[in-house]
Amino acid sequence: MIRSVVRGNGAALPRRIMKNADFEGMVETSDEWIVQRTGIRQRHVAADDETTASLGEAAARAALDSAGLTPADIDLIVLATSTPNNTFPATAVDIQNRLGMHHGFAFDLQAVCSGFVYAVATADLYICGGLAKRVLVIGSETFSRILDWTDRSTCVLFGDGAGAVVLEAQGGKGGIGDRGVLAASLRSDGVHKDKLFVDGGPSTTGTVGHLRMEGREVFKHAVGMITDVIEATFAQAGITAQDLDWFVPHQANKRIIDASAKKLGIAEQKVVVTVDLHGNTSAASVPLALSVAVADGRIKKGDLVLLEAMGGGFTWGAVLLRW
Ligand code: ACO
Repeated sequence: MIRSVVRGNGAALPRRIMKNADFEGMVETSDEWIVQRTGIRQRHVAADDETTASLGEAAARAALDSAGLTPADIDLIVLATSTPNNTFPATAVDIQNRLGMHHGFAFDLQAVCSGFVYAVATADLYICGGLAKRVLVIGSETFSRILDWTDRSTCVLFGDGAGAVVLEAQGGKGGIGDRGVLAASLRSDGVHKDKLFVDGGPSTTGTVGHLRMEGREVFKHAVGMITDVIEATFAQAGITAQDLDWFVPHQANKRIIDASAKKLGIAEQKVVVTVDLHGNTSAASVPLALSVAVADGRIKKGDLVLLEAMGGGFTWGAVLLRW
């Protein structure tokens, strides 16, 4: 059977790093509050010349290099983002053009912080359906552009960046020992749409708008939703938490990550945490975390890796893959 195997990965971050202390003169907050409540210590913030497209292009080039491939080898680009360069066309086609790629097709996928998990699950369907052989899956965001920098309850939480993987069709035996995507479970429920949203858009205000969040409400739902969708993914694959080598969760809040891992019985040393370095980079957070854990040698070929995310909508989902 066909499996979607990760052949390479990469990441890109804006040049500027903003430390928690840098907020202290802007809003009433402190490094201590931010670290205690979220685990975040710093985030990268895009300059005017750094955009979702330019960061996505840089991450895509890094992923292609690590795969030993060129844009000529790619059939499809799926970009997960909620902060596109323009309302349209899709930023994915901008990245396609920046890569000098004029064949195949490209589209954006919008599931806020769950975007990358949705995009990997979607790319897997194109590959398994025989519609694409190699897919660049990118998560790229510039949330700094949609933050209300006077709102301390949100502006300290988010950062900018991009991460990417190249998924390639390879043969598998159909068992849990195969490399590639092994199981995926996606969910959404729009009843929660007002708990985490951007208060503008082309069809309503005609403006871009700013991010608004009822943080406590999001927190309340997060752990239950995350663990439910992971249990469903485990059941699909016929595994338990003990079989995992690495848990790579969405990096929104260290307390949510810890509580989810504890509830699932995943040992602390198997959890990849980068929220301290990047803040919440929405659809970029999982591929950025992957890039750190691959670069430092933790995630290796053959490891069983669980990706998970939850975000605005709400949307949530998990993907199990063997690296
Ligand atoms: N500095 C200092 N104090 C602050 C700050 C700040 N930056 N922000 C809020 N406070 C205050 C509040 O005003 C409140 O004060 P009050 O008690 O006088 O009203 C107090 O701190 C406590 O506020 P809470 O909201 O209860 O704090 P909580 O412990 O819940 O932490 C947080 C807030 C970090 C936002 C948390 O609720 C959280 O992480 N929520 C989930 C966010 C998330 O996971 N999002 C994921 C999806 S993101 C996406 O999809 C785009």
